[in-house]
Amino acid sequence: MKFLVTGAAGFIGFHVCQRLLAAGHQVVGLDNLNDYYDVNLKLSRLSLLKSDGQFHFAKCELADREGIAALFKQHSFQRVIHLAAQAGVRYSIENPHAYADANLIGHLNILEGCRHHKIEHLLYASSSSVYGLNRKMPFSTADSVDHPVSLYAATKKANELMSHTYSHLYQLPTTGLRFFTVYGPWGRPDMALFKFTRAMLAGDAIDVYNHGQMKRDFTYIDDIVEAIMRVQDVIPQADPAWTVEQGTPATSSAPYRVYNIGNSSPVTLMSYIEALEQALGFKAEKNLLPMQPGDVLETSADTSALFDITGFKPQTSVSTGVQQFVNWYRDYYGV
Ligand SMILES: NC(=O)c1ccc[n+]([C@@H]2O[C@H](COP(=O)([O-])OP(=O)(O)OC[C@H]3O[C@@H](n4cnc5c(N)ncnc54)[C@H](O)[C@@H]3O)[C@@H](O)[C@H]2O)c1
Repeated sequence: MKFLVTGAAGFIGFHVCQRLLAAGHQVVGLDNLNDYYDVNLKLSRLSLLKSDGQFHFAKCELADREGIAALFKQHSFQRVIHLAAQAGVRYSIENPHAYADANLIGHLNILEGCRHHKIEHLLYASSSSVYGLNRKMPFSTADSVDHPVSLYAATKKANELMSHTYSHLYQLPTTGLRFFTVYGPWGRPDMALFKFTRAMLAGDAIDVYNHGQMKRDFTYIDDIVEAIMRVQDVIPQADPAWTVEQGTPATSSAPYRVYNIGNSSPVTLMSYIEALEQALGFKAEKNLLPMQPGDVLETSADTSALFDITGFKPQTSVSTGVQQFVNWYRDYYGV
C-alpha cells in the first residue's frame, strides 16, 4: 500500500516509517524540518529512511494549503498516518501561534486532502494531555475531555472534533490515538529522558519538577509503533445504531474512533530517574523544583478498548525501555 506519513523526520514518525517500509509498503514522508529541536537529529533519521528505495521525502509545511493539496494530487495514497504537529506542553505557553498553524490549519489541510482523495483510513496523533483536569484514573476514552490545561492539549482535542465532523459529513474513516508520554531510541531532545541523559553525561544537575512526584504512563516507542501498525488495519465503520445517549465520546454513528495508547502502569518521575541512573551507572544531582504551569499531576491509560480491537497491550517496562534509550544515546553521540 502507499502511505502518507506526516512528521516522518520526527521521533514517532521515523519509527512508523521504518516499520511500514520493513513490511513492504511505499511511504511518502512529509516534514517541514523545523528547528523546534536539533535539525541534525531529524536529518539523521531522514537519511536512514532515504536509504530505502520505497521511501520518498516531501519537504512541506502542513499549513501550506496549496502544497498539501498538490501532494495528495501527485500521489494516490491509500492510507494516511498524520503525526506531524507542534508538540510540547510547555512551549505552547511561549509560542501559541505555532500550535494554531501546525495543529489546527495543518490538521484541516490533511482532512481536506483525505476527503478529496477518498483515503481509506486517516490515523492521527492525539495526546493524553486532552485529559487535562480529569482526576478519575485510569483515563478512559469513555470520559469527557472538555477541560484541557494547555493550548497544545486544546488543539489535540480540536483535532478529534474536526475529524469527527469529516467522518460524519464525508464518511472519512478516522482514528485518533491518544499517546501517553512516548520515549525510546531516537527520542525528542525536549523531553525529560533526553534532557536528563544529556545533563547527567555532561556532569550537570537535572531539573526535577514537582519534586519528582508526578506520575506518568511512560510508553516505549516499539509499543506505540506496534499499536499503530495494528490500528491502521482496523478501519472504523459507521454504526447507525449509535446514539449520543448510549454511546461513548470515543465512538460515533460516523466511522470515527479514538483510543488511548499507554503502558497502563504509571510510575513516578523519580522512579523514571532511578531507571536512568541504573542505566547510566551513576546518580544524578537533582534540582527539586515546583510544578510547571500546564503540566498535569498524573497520567494513566485505560487501554481496554485498544486491546479489544487489536489484542495488543503495551508492556515494555521502564527499566528495559530506558536502557534501550541510553544504549542508543551513547552510540549516536559517541559518549
Ligand atoms: N512523544 C510523545 O510523548 C507524544 C505524546 C502525545 C502525543 N504526541 C503526538 O505525536 C505526534 C508525533 O510526536 P513526536 O514525539 O514524534 O514529535 P516530533 O516533534 O519529534 O515530530 C513531529 C514532526 O513534525 C514536524 N512538523 C511539526 N510542525 C510541522 C509543520 N507545520 N509542517 C510540517 N511538519 C511539521 C516536525 O519537524 C517533526 O519532525 C505529534 O502529533 C505529537 O503531538 C507525542
